[in-house]
Amino acid sequence: MKLISLDTLEPGKQLGRPIYNEKGTLLLGKGVAVTARYLRRLKEMGYSSVYIEEKGYEDIEVKDVISDRTRMEAVSTISETFESVRASDSRSDKVSLDRSKVTGVADKIVDDLTSSGDQIMDLIDLKSFDNYTFMHSVNVSVLTVLTASNVGKFTSMELRDLAMGALLSDIGKAHVPIEIVHKKGRLTPDEFARMKKHTAIGYEILLHKSNMKPLVASVALQHHEYYNGTGYPGQLAGDKIHIFSRYTALADCFDSLTSDRSYKRRLPPLVGLEYLKLGSGTHFDPVCLEQFANHVAPYPAASTVMLTTGETAVVVQNNMKNLERPKIRILNTPDGKAVEKPYELDLSAHPEFAIQSVQ
Ligand SMILES: [Fe+2]
Ligand SMILES: [Fe+2]
Repeated sequence: MKLISLDTLEPGKQLGRPIYNEKGTLLLGKGVAVTARYLRRLKEMGYSSVYIEEKGYEDIEVKDVISDRTRMEAVSTISETFESVRASDSRSDKVSLDRSKVTGVADKIVDDLTSSGDQIMDLIDLKSFDNYTFMHSVNVSVLTVLTASNVGKFTSMELRDLAMGALLSDIGKAHVPIEIVHKKGRLTPDEFARMKKHTAIGYEILLHKSNMKPLVASVALQHHEYYNGTGYPGQLAGDKIHIFSRYTALADCFDSLTSDRSYKRRLPPLVGLEYLKLGSGTHFDPVCLEQFANHVAPYPAASTVMLTTGETAVVVQNNMKNLERPKIRILNTPDGKAVEKPYELDLSAHPEFAIQSVQ
């Protein structure tokens, strides 16, 4: 597989991963040839890149940390949950939220992540404008549980609460005016102030209107708090912010930075991670951050990298023990010519080579 920018994708190539709509329904399956019309549509939907199958890249695997089925089911459950909360009156003291369905999905996420040993996030969760909110909620949950489950101090019950809290962290957006949530472009200060209320609204919905555990609801309330007390809504600092929310804050920020939005293109995971690290100790808990960074590949498999020596290469496989130095396949010489016989380099054994940039 190869990760390719839609700007350089030529029609006729086959998709390497399926594309889903905002309800978690399959739009284009793996293996479907991207026609000129599909390509236009993908760009309209806000995608900047896709995974494709390509000759010479067949052996490069992009493996998700949960099954496609779990991810799809989670997206459709969250989409339905948002719909039903949106449909209930924000002044009423009950919302219809299918607790058992969300619990079931949270369980599957935890099961998938804890049954396959230590894993790293080695794929970019590509999203469009319309499926962003739901796919984002799911990916935040996945990244959060991926990190916390490997710390080894949480029970599976606690991980399930964490998965649920992260899945529902943005549920308050269902009662923020839809023109603001779906605005294509940056929010005005007033709109941003409305948007910030999704934390307290979400807490209210989960704790008082649908009888969720306080711990689950607290993730909705606290996931935008900053470690130094400059976040919102409570300006809580340090361990006054529950550890679940400290993990969720990292996953939330990382996922939004590395996703295409209406006002910006996605950043590569490397840049997303660097951004988080700049906030270590101020925005984020340094210990949680280190654990998070140990589980996210800065150079995911199938991405194109440029070496400091000028060659272009594709990432073939990550080294779990050294995420900075994956195994790569050199494709182009420093002057841009295709190498006659692409060859592989394990960067963990070749300190003389280093990655300069990633696509
Ligand atoms: Fe949020
Ligand atoms: Fe979020």
